Amino acid sequence: MSSLADLDPLTGTDGRPVPDATAWDRRRHELRRLFEAHVYGPWPGDPRGVELVSVTETSALDGTARLVEAQVRVDSPAATFPLLLVTPAAPGPHPCFLGLNFHGNHTVLDHPAVTVHDRYAVDGAAGRGDHRDSWDVAGSVAAGYAVATVFCGDVVQDHPDLAGPDLDALATPAGRPGALMAWAWALSAARAALSSRPEVDPSAVTVVGHSRMGKAALVASGWDDRFAAVVATQSGTGGASPSRKAPERCVPGPDGRPEAETVKMITRRFPHWFAPAFAGHADRTDELPVDQHQLLALSAPRPTLLWNGTEDLWADPAGTWDCLQAAAPVFRFLGADQPEVVDVPEPGQTTPGTLAYGLRPGGHSVTREDWAAWRRWCACRPGGEPQA
Ligand code: GCU
Repeated sequence: MSSLADLDPLTGTDGRPVPDATAWDRRRHELRRLFEAHVYGPWPGDPRGVELVSVTETSALDGTARLVEAQVRVDSPAATFPLLLVTPAAPGPHPCFLGLNFHGNHTVLDHPAVTVHDRYAVDGAAGRGDHRDSWDVAGSVAAGYAVATVFCGDVVQDHPDLAGPDLDALATPAGRPGALMAWAWALSAARAALSSRPEVDPSAVTVVGHSRMGKAALVASGWDDRFAAVVATQSGTGGASPSRKAPERCVPGPDGRPEAETVKMITRRFPHWFAPAFAGHADRTDELPVDQHQLLALSAPRPTLLWNGTEDLWADPAGTWDCLQAAAPVFRFLGADQPEVVDVPEPGQTTPGTLAYGLRPGGHSVTREDWAAWRRWCACRPGGEPQA
């Protein structure tokens, strides 16, 4: 069985080592094309003609914040989707976290001015502010950060039977993207749109995401290097965990589920997230010409935090550590501060370096404590230049 070491990010498919940063730029393009063909489907193209329209503004969080609701409108490829931005009321520009949410923009903050779109008003839909603890907008604003978010379902409906038309709308001559690629593209468009807001520092936008949205955050950072940094939490398979999993983590348990999610499981349950070719590799992951450490390498040398939970084995904290180790040489090669770290950190610790690994006790979730830890780590600090 082949290992991550067989897919050296710093050796081209022609077998030649990458000698310098210019050659890395070519190699980066090669890696992107491989990921597009075999894992995520094509990038819909850099968003062009991006603006924020239908902007409404109001005060929030007892006057300490400004709340902006708007539509991101993109000329090419054509798309329009809502964006919520909450910034400190103090004059900016502020560093900003930008991420996709799972259940609607109205769920990240309990504020009557946030539109609850008709399509969210279905039985069992989440209500205003239901997910405020996993966003901690108040904590970020108090610490001097803006927070911007887009509901994933406003870009691509997250269901294998419903995603097709949304994905067709972002198709290129090379085919249609998978949902993770389409969501990443929307993050890139949202980042471009935010640069028109004086409250946001365009050089200090960190893309953040949990689980499937963490996978999309890593793709966004890999294809759009204007993101200053990325925080991917519990991103798992298709994110920071390898497709070539250690065999012992793939043995089905009594419920038929292996310890860590395999390519076979993810492509069966979520075929709309990926290029069809990825499912074709489900039984032959060692024949994939790319693996996920090379996705991490596409963010180098920008600050990248991989966040994990000790009990979230499905998202594969051990494999994520292996991917970090295999991607770290690219960060060093490009001049980032990337010390050798041999051991997985203790729970509660984050490793030093530009490509960092955090492990906290607990399972698959995002808590206020997670946000506090990310802000402590954060490379884009309020009032300062982005720093590793
Ligand atoms: C499922 C899926 C994971 C995904 C997660 C999530 O568990 O198998 O790949 O990361 O959902 O998005 O919460």
